[in-house]
Amino acid sequence: MIELPAPSAHELVHSARLAGLIHQEIAAAGGSIAFSQFMERCLYAPGLGYYSAGRRKFGPGGDFVTAPEVSPLFGRCLARSCAAVLESLGGGDILEFGAGSGQLAIDLLGEMAAMGYLPEHYLILERSAELKARQQQAIGKYLPQLLDRISWIDALPGAGFRGVMLANEVLDAMAVERFQWEGETAALFHVRSESDGFAWQLQHGEDNDVTARIAVDVSGCNLPAGYISEFNTSLQPWLQTVAECLDQGLILLIDYGYPRHELFHPQRSSGTLMCHYRHHVHADPLLWPGLQDITAHVNFTAVAEAAVTAGLEVAGYTTQAYFLLDCGLEDLLLQSGPTDTVDYLQVAQQVKTLVLPGEMGERFKCIGLTRGLDIPVPGFRLQDQRERL
Ligand SMILES: C[S@@+](CC[C@H](N)C(=O)[O-])C[C@H]1O[C@@H](n2cnc3c(N)ncnc32)[C@H](O)[C@@H]1O
Repeated sequence: MIELPAPSAHELVHSARLAGLIHQEIAAAGGSIAFSQFMERCLYAPGLGYYSAGRRKFGPGGDFVTAPEVSPLFGRCLARSCAAVLESLGGGDILEFGAGSGQLAIDLLGEMAAMGYLPEHYLILERSAELKARQQQAIGKYLPQLLDRISWIDALPGAGFRGVMLANEVLDAMAVERFQWEGETAALFHVRSESDGFAWQLQHGEDNDVTARIAVDVSGCNLPAGYISEFNTSLQPWLQTVAECLDQGLILLIDYGYPRHELFHPQRSSGTLMCHYRHHVHADPLLWPGLQDITAHVNFTAVAEAAVTAGLEVAGYTTQAYFLLDCGLEDLLLQSGPTDTVDYLQVAQQVKTLVLPGEMGERFKCIGLTRGLDIPVPGFRLQDQRERL
């Protein structure tokens, strides 16, 4: 049994409203829905889903901490990579997907302004109206002088984009299918209603586009029957449409995950679904719809394959630690001290969280996908691990 802090009465009412909506969808579908539909509603149902509703998610007062929330040095390092790309293109724009609290945009643009390499435009494509409002408020507060360069867009910009597209922890927040490998085929997990909530229902014998794509994804991995994992059906179409917009430049995706053969490791035979609730991590996504984050690890080999199918080049793949070190993390740390010891110790602690293997340093990976870019991209020069994909 998982020990979690109890939600407030207000939160439970909120969750019950979303649960009611999902129960209706299950009834309309004849008794069960695919897990991807359940996860999609839990995270993004308008006004009710985890990312669409108002509770604080990021940072110490929320449910989990992302790298931009750990330290401004994360955004400042990314700025080095973005500046090098824009310099080689002779200018261009930045597009950030899923900007969370807006912290990455603030740190990255602040650093680029200091370097004298500001993008012409900084576009933010955010699914959550609530987060978009938070981002506008935060950026208006900390970077009022740059607001005229920043726009929030509701759809991809169309062909002809030149510059850098960024997504930190966006792929892990996409709704996935959960499956059990049955030896030769995949059985998909559905979700059904119970009197006191929701329960799993394994659908044997489904033969459709999703099960066929999973069979291709796991072929060559020798998964034993009974092995459980996830499959992101949106990854390939998402990357295809994003790539179609990119005329020249870099798509930088940062997230936790593994190359395919490491992802489908015996150690992960129950899958990689993780839920975050007030800094507690557990693996029950059916609990409290709308109150907790639900994520799945990213299959970086699948990302690279989707990129190649979309006509992009895989320019680099490495850990977050090597990426940040190659972008000058140590120099930035040295610049911040040690004249003020307390400050320096605080920054040194942030650096440890970003790069140590037991923290974010190895779990998080960076992949660089390019079109028409002929520079070694800062971040991937120190240690390129593309051969592991
Ligand atoms: C885990 S949060 C990460 C936030 C932020 N990037 C950070 O690092 O703090 C995931 C974010 O991705 C957004 N998101 C999910 N799918 C998206 C998509 N297809 N396009 C744009 N944003 C998306 C969510 O609304 C949310 O802001």
